[in-house]
Order: sequence, then C-alpha cells, then structure tokens
Amino acid sequence: MNAVFEVSNLKKSFGGLAVTNDVSISMYPGDRVALIGPNGAGKTTFVNLVTGNLAPDSGDVRLGGETVTRVDAAGRVKRGLVRSFQVTRLFQDMTPAEHVALAILQRDGRTGRMFGNFLLMPGVMDEVTGMLHTLGLENLMHRKVNEIAYGQQRLLEIAVALALKPKVLLLDEPAAGVPQSDTGRIEQALADLPADLAVLMIEHDMDLVFRFAKRVIVLAAGAIIFDGSPADVTRDARVREAYLGSYANASHVA
Ligand SMILES: Nc1ncnc2c1ncn2[C@@H]1O[C@H](COP(=O)(O)OP(=O)(O)OP(=O)(O)O)[C@@H](O)[C@H]1O
Ligand SMILES: [Mg+2]
Repeated sequence: MNAVFEVSNLKKSFGGLAVTNDVSISMYPGDRVALIGPNGAGKTTFVNLVTGNLAPDSGDVRLGGETVTRVDAAGRVKRGLVRSFQVTRLFQDMTPAEHVALAILQRDGRTGRMFGNFLLMPGVMDEVTGMLHTLGLENLMHRKVNEIAYGQQRLLEIAVALALKPKVLLLDEPAAGVPQSDTGRIEQALADLPADLAVLMIEHDMDLVFRFAKRVIVLAAGAIIFDGSPADVTRDARVREAYLGSYANASHVA
C-alpha cells in the first residue's frame, strides 16, 4: 500500500532550539496513530509544520505522493490534510449547523455564494444534519457555540474536520479540557471515524491512547524516539525514561 502522508527529515528551530529535529513519519489509509511525548516535545509544532501553518527550516511533506511543502495551508486542506486545534477555535456566536455548512461549502468551493442561504440548500442541510447526528449534536445544531458544553464543542470540531472529507486527520488533544464524564462521547466519535481515514492523534491520556492507537510514535525534545506497536512502547527503555515510566510501571507491563 502507498503512503497517503509522508514527512521526511523535517526540521525547525526556534532561536537555536531544535523543536523539530529530523522527523520522518509515514502514514497509510486506515492508520490509527497516537503521537505522544512530554509537554514541549514538539507535537503541536509538528502539526503546525506539516499543515502549512508554520514554515519548516528544511524537510518535505507529501500527500498522496504529491510534494506539498510549498503549498499553503488551505491548499493542503483541499488535498485532504485536515487538523484540529489543541485549544478550541470555534466562532462563539455561530451555530453548529453554520460551522458544518461553512466547511461543506469551503470543501466544495462554493464559499462565493451567499452563506446565509445554506438553510435553503437541501443538499447542504441534509449533509449538515447527518454529520451532526453522527456526532450526537443534532439537537443542538441551531444553538450558539457559547451555549453548548465544552465537550460538545470539541465534538463539533471533529464534525467540522470530517465535513472537509479528509484523507489524513490530525487531532491535537481532542479530549483536552473535557470533563471525565464527557470523554466517552469523544472516544466513541474517534471509534466511529471512517475506516479508511488515516488518523494521527496527539493525546496525554494514556488510557485513551491505548484504546485508540494501533501504532504509537513518541516524540521527545523534537526527535522521534519510538515508532511501533502499543504493546512494545511500554517496554521501551528510552520511552520509559523520557515519558511513560510511571504509567508503564503502574498498569501496562506485560
Ligand atoms: N512560535 C514559537 N516560538 C518560539 N518557541 C516556540 C514556538 N512554538 C513553540 N515553541 C517552543 O517549541 C517547543 C515545542 O512546543 P510544542 O507546542 O510543539 O510542544 P507540545 O509537544 O505540543 O507540548 P504540549 O504537550 O504541552 O502541548 C516548546 O519549547 C515551545 O516553547
Ligand atoms: Mg501541544
């Protein structure tokens, strides 16, 4: 199978500090990858670099075999690389229906039309309703974002990302800030993602990581120190030293 997403020898320094230090990752359709590592390891920076939100010092990014290193962020979204943010970036005065409709119109290159008319576009509304139903947000679709719970806002971000019909989805801590009582819904949404989608999730909650991931990549001080199976990651000496020590000792040693 050909890689749908390939990053090679990516490098970025901030004021002499190598935040991304020669990072190479390949992903395939259907991948479920967790990207883990200590605070400040460079996980979010990696996402910013590959999505075109930040320019690398060197290295290449390929999507479906095409080099996109010089393509801007919108062009990468159009080619199927979609991310969510560590901190919610929704519009507080807009509704979930409006957010998803906007994503659909952007995807289809129809943003030139009068946006307010989307309620009258049956095709768009059907897709909006279907997407919000999948994420359990259908009954909130016409409420303002600032009126819905944070966990539901994070689900809406996943809905917006999926409405863009990604081939590769990068999720930066999708459950961060969500009360424990609501993380189950997010986990269910992750479990229900399209089977052929390649997903990379950054996450600190190791229980969630081990339930989600079929492959784990560990980043420490800007470099990949492990890329392999969830079963092996807890046994890896470097990973235990850099990040996982207490978790591995507590519950996941075979
Ligand atoms: N724009 C910037 N300018 C200077 N330094 C930056 C910038 N963005 C990130 N950094 C630094 O790069 C390092 C990596 O940050 P990054 O946000 O990628 O870490 P992270 O792995 O996502 O951490 P966390 O788990 O806390 O989200 C940190 O030392 C951070 O302070
Ligand atoms: Mg981060």
